[in-house]
Amino acid sequence: MSFSFLTIIYLIASVTFILGLKMLSNPASARKGNAIAATGMVLAIAATIFLYRDDEGKALGNYGWIFGGLLIGATIGTLAAKRVKMTAMPEMVSLFNGMGGACAALISIVEFNHLANKVHASKTISLQDIFPSSTAYGNWTGEMLIILAGLIIGAVSFAGSIIAWGKLNGKIHDLAFRGHHLFNFVLLLIIVVMAGWMIGVFENANSLVFYTIFFMSLLYGVFFVLPIGGADMPVVISLLNSFTGVAAACGGFLYNNKAMLTGGILVGAAGTLLTILMCRAMNRSLINVLIGSFGVSAEQAATKQEQGNYKEISLSDAAVVLSYANKVMIVPGYGLAVAQAQHACHELEKLLTARGVEVKYAIHPVAGRMPGHMNVLLAEADVDYELLLEMEQANEEFPHTDVVLVLGANDVVNPAAKSDTASPIYGMPILDVELARTCIVNKRSMKPGYAGIENELFFRPKTSMLFGDAKKVLQDLAAEIKNL
Ligand code: TAP
Repeated sequence: MSFSFLTIIYLIASVTFILGLKMLSNPASARKGNAIAATGMVLAIAATIFLYRDDEGKALGNYGWIFGGLLIGATIGTLAAKRVKMTAMPEMVSLFNGMGGACAALISIVEFNHLANKVHASKTISLQDIFPSSTAYGNWTGEMLIILAGLIIGAVSFAGSIIAWGKLNGKIHDLAFRGHHLFNFVLLLIIVVMAGWMIGVFENANSLVFYTIFFMSLLYGVFFVLPIGGADMPVVISLLNSFTGVAAACGGFLYNNKAMLTGGILVGAAGTLLTILMCRAMNRSLINVLIGSFGVSAEQAATKQEQGNYKEISLSDAAVVLSYANKVMIVPGYGLAVAQAQHACHELEKLLTARGVEVKYAIHPVAGRMPGHMNVLLAEADVDYELLLEMEQANEEFPHTDVVLVLGANDVVNPAAKSDTASPIYGMPILDVELARTCIVNKRSMKPGYAGIENELFFRPKTSMLFGDAKKVLQDLAAEIKNL
């Protein structure tokens, strides 16, 4: 009775995950989607704790450990999520993702030990006791395959995510040595050969080989992520996220747990799709991201000579230009998030709209430091979603735009991406802000953005620089416009 009830609850949880994921694709329904999927997860966890029975009808037990772990994990997770700054969100995602990978690897370790104990005891018990089916060899292959897949993918995801976390918060720097990719390839080959040997040889529960695979997978995770340039980190995190999903799905197979299986597959598929979409947004192949050296060439490019003179615009002039425009396009970037200027930005938009100016936002897919960063930021300030244009739509509208106001964006409006084949961002689609009649760029200095390269846009005739912290500049602009 409880078993079928448990299955129904897993089914309900799986449906909530799918519904939640679907709702996450639209900013208007994203919060609700998140809450629905989280409710499904709570349901699945509670049902597993209270309704699960093993083959002998025994309940889970170990309630002290389970609730102790839940309490500690939930407290740390809640505090971390509440305190994290929006700009540090990718780091947290990476860290949490790493924890998922570690869990999957631990499940594999526990299950391997169960299996190894049974195999070692098989001197006295029959194979049918180990694998209660006639196809004992097939069961061995299947179970070892899943245990090792969970172990390897989980360990790579854990170690890689920790390195990604360290890189994003500046504690770990890019590191690549001669023959790095060959080293990684050989490491992976050894892992695969050892795993193949364990899977292929019946009853080969060799602990030494198993733990060697584990440590080599950790090592592979470290060396896989270490050489990848900083600007490519989001793609790597998304890829590691999909690894964690697949590793969790392996756990679902091992425990015959449908909710875990569905959740893992959804994370794996969503992470893979996001990885592909991000690569497309940067016009790069995944292989190029993984074995390219974006960060290194970015540093080299930063040493490029200055491009000439730029002109500045005063606050009062900028206020006039914006107020008397028919159409203004705001381009938000990482600096807007740093300045926490989203509310001031919304105020300016409302002021201009009240004066009859048509205001829209042009959103680049990799503006900021995480996928959807600008959407989340502007949603925080209650900016109407209808005003947010995706890159392709915005690029169609720039030729009919009077003023583009770039707020703390740099790489995503850098024309070098289109023209300079030596540039590390060459090939990345950008927002064609130059097609507008005039362009006002707000940032604090002439320093480069994430890719570490200079931006020709700032030196072009149509561009004027409006220096200062985005929040202060926007507040002052609003005050000026009110006085016009
Ligand atoms: P960036 O190219 O990083 O430029 C941000 C600019 O904001 C900087 O040049 C900085 O100049 C300015 N800034 C910083 N603080 C400011 C403040 N308080 N007020 C005003 N301006 C401020 O940003 P972007 O154009 O959004 O491009 C994103 C970059 O990050 C891309 O290279 C992308 O590949 C990479 N990236 C993206 C993601 C995702 S998925 N979104 C994740 C990681 C990395 P000053 O210092 O002179 O003020």
